[in-house]
Amino acid sequence: MDALEFLAQHEADNLEQLKELLRIPSVSAQSEHAADTRRCAGWVADHLRGIGLAAEVCETGGHPAVIAEYQGPAGAPTVLVYGHYDVQPVDPVELWKSTPFDPIESDGYLLARGVTDDKGQFFAHVKGVEACLRTAGAIPCSLKFLIEGEEESGSAHLNAFIEANRERLAADVVVISDGCQYGPDMPAINFGLRGLAFVEVRLTGPDRDLHSGSYGGAVANPVNMLARMIGQLHFADGRIRVPGFYDQVYTATAWEREQFARLPFDAKAYRRSTGAPALWGEPGFTPLERTWIRPTLDVNGITGGYQGEGGKTIIPAWASAKITMRLVPDMTPEDTAAKLEAYLRQICPPSVRLEVIHHGGAPAVQVPVDGPWLEAAARALETGFGRRPFFTKEGGSIPVVGTFKSVLGIDTLLIGFGQQTDNPHSPNERMLIRDFHRGCRTAVALFHELAGVRR
Ligand code: BES
Ligand code: ZN
Repeated sequence: MDALEFLAQHEADNLEQLKELLRIPSVSAQSEHAADTRRCAGWVADHLRGIGLAAEVCETGGHPAVIAEYQGPAGAPTVLVYGHYDVQPVDPVELWKSTPFDPIESDGYLLARGVTDDKGQFFAHVKGVEACLRTAGAIPCSLKFLIEGEEESGSAHLNAFIEANRERLAADVVVISDGCQYGPDMPAINFGLRGLAFVEVRLTGPDRDLHSGSYGGAVANPVNMLARMIGQLHFADGRIRVPGFYDQVYTATAWEREQFARLPFDAKAYRRSTGAPALWGEPGFTPLERTWIRPTLDVNGITGGYQGEGGKTIIPAWASAKITMRLVPDMTPEDTAAKLEAYLRQICPPSVRLEVIHHGGAPAVQVPVDGPWLEAAARALETGFGRRPFFTKEGGSIPVVGTFKSVLGIDTLLIGFGQQTDNPHSPNERMLIRDFHRGCRTAVALFHELAGVRR
């Protein structure tokens, strides 16, 4: 029996095992789940050992990472599969139709927090490895897994960990499945991701909340002032108003635009899928271009003043906002954040104090759009999904891709098995069960295709 047949016969088992993994609430951002997160690393390492790999739970200084290794034939390429076993918080939990850590099947989907981001995706590679080992007894390439536990909370310890484990992680190519196809039954290879810069803005006014009757009108209200400043970050048409913001923005190549033009895009269906009353964005660009090749500036949250039950008449002492900017080549997180800070200082009224906290970020990444690795991945997706992949970009960020290039010198193949409509980071996260099984098949094909690439 070959590995693909093995997968066909073990679909139910594989799904059950994925459910077991999904029952562990590995929410990396919440300290109440620190023990669960560690337990999840143990589960992943045990599972990898169970299928015949040498696996270890490695300390990083934060949530542990799992490394596993398989030694293939001498001279064969080494493939490093990266994924993350941590998941986003479940809030607002009341909007879930199921229990986030009690996976259920419904309408062809598996529903659970983390199923598409990223447990169901990295686990597909694990099951692909198992299928090869249980049938042929071997895999034609060498393999390494790096499954981390802090991706959803910023991978604070990962760069140092990769630097400290350079030799151990050395490989010829990285494979990441932590993203999306272009649509249902539309497998894709991503050739680029946006980067990210994260900045927190805090305005303080009076040294305590003041009575808005006694002081209102004479002392500036930090919430009002922050709202005014945020209102000045964009022009009315959607362009970003921060001076110099677009200076380093690259111009998409003709090849890129040609790939985009090939993609079917239904703006009405896209709008409907979001629930928003209308689409919005920078003039002169299509929605795909706005999310893939143009930078953005978004307030993720704004806090200040009284938010409790009933009313409270105050001039709040402070207000704050969390802002992220999605970056495209050749912007850097440092330079972009510095430009935002300079502009905020310029528009901040003297009646409040401004504090800007830089939380770092990651540059955008472009992966090579030609060469034997990419061709091999395209053939593997064709085996797994029965269709040639589309070439797409992605608006989200996977910061480690830049680290793999800068620290280990390795390019990454981005082959997401999920769908944009899988609700990652949202209530009712889900993954098409058939996408999981196709991911497993793709992994089997990929290890064989990549093994044949001459370096
Ligand atoms: N899996 C996502 C990246 C992603 C997002 C891929 C959307 C495809 C579509 C990843 O887990 C993620 O959410 N990354 C964060 C990174 C940030 C916290 C530095 C993101 O993009 O917001
Ligand atoms: Zn993810």
